[in-house]
Amino acid sequence: MDEQAKKTALRGITYGLYVIGTKVGDDVNAFTANWVTQTSFSPPLVVVAAKKGTTSCDGIKSSGVFSVNVLETGQKDLAFAFFKPVSRVGNKFGDIEFYTEQTGSPILRDALSWFECKVVDVNERGDHTIFVGEVVNAGVHRQGDPMTLRETGLNYGG
Ligand SMILES: Cc1cc2nc3c(=O)[nH]c(=O)nc-3n(C[C@H](O)[C@H](O)[C@H](O)COP(=O)(O)O)c2cc1C
Repeated sequence: MDEQAKKTALRGITYGLYVIGTKVGDDVNAFTANWVTQTSFSPPLVVVAAKKGTTSCDGIKSSGVFSVNVLETGQKDLAFAFFKPVSRVGNKFGDIEFYTEQTGSPILRDALSWFECKVVDVNERGDHTIFVGEVVNAGVHRQGDPMTLRETGLNYGG
């Protein structure tokens, strides 16, 4: 396979950018991710791929729940606040406000909208764990255009 072509072609997949909220024991964590998509209407299913060995991946595995916070275009600061590993920078929330609903996963007050999931399937095939989540609760804070990965100038894929 042509490695450069593979990278370029895979980076042609267009993505949103989301803050995935996780429960880690009695605490919460969150990470910014673009590998998120819906895969079923009924039941409503989404998949999230979480890098193996991260606090978030372990947290989703042990709690069996996660939330997805839909950011608004322009909310780069919010996206960037959750890229760094909690193991290195400590609590990433700082003065970023959040609350919890059914699953205990953090929901960002400033997100456009959110949904929370119960994990119904796990696939360990690659270097990320693929979690299939059934959406059990959702909310909308305000109308707006969702953030895209492209506007950050970053890539995660290839
Ligand atoms: C643009 C971008 C997109 C990312 N997308 C994902 C993703 O889809 N899945 C993932 O596991 N990590 C993704 N990451 C990396 C996580 O944000 C990073 O590993 C984070 O530190 C994990 O947090 P934790 O260590 O506190 O669990 C992405 C990073 C960047 C810069």
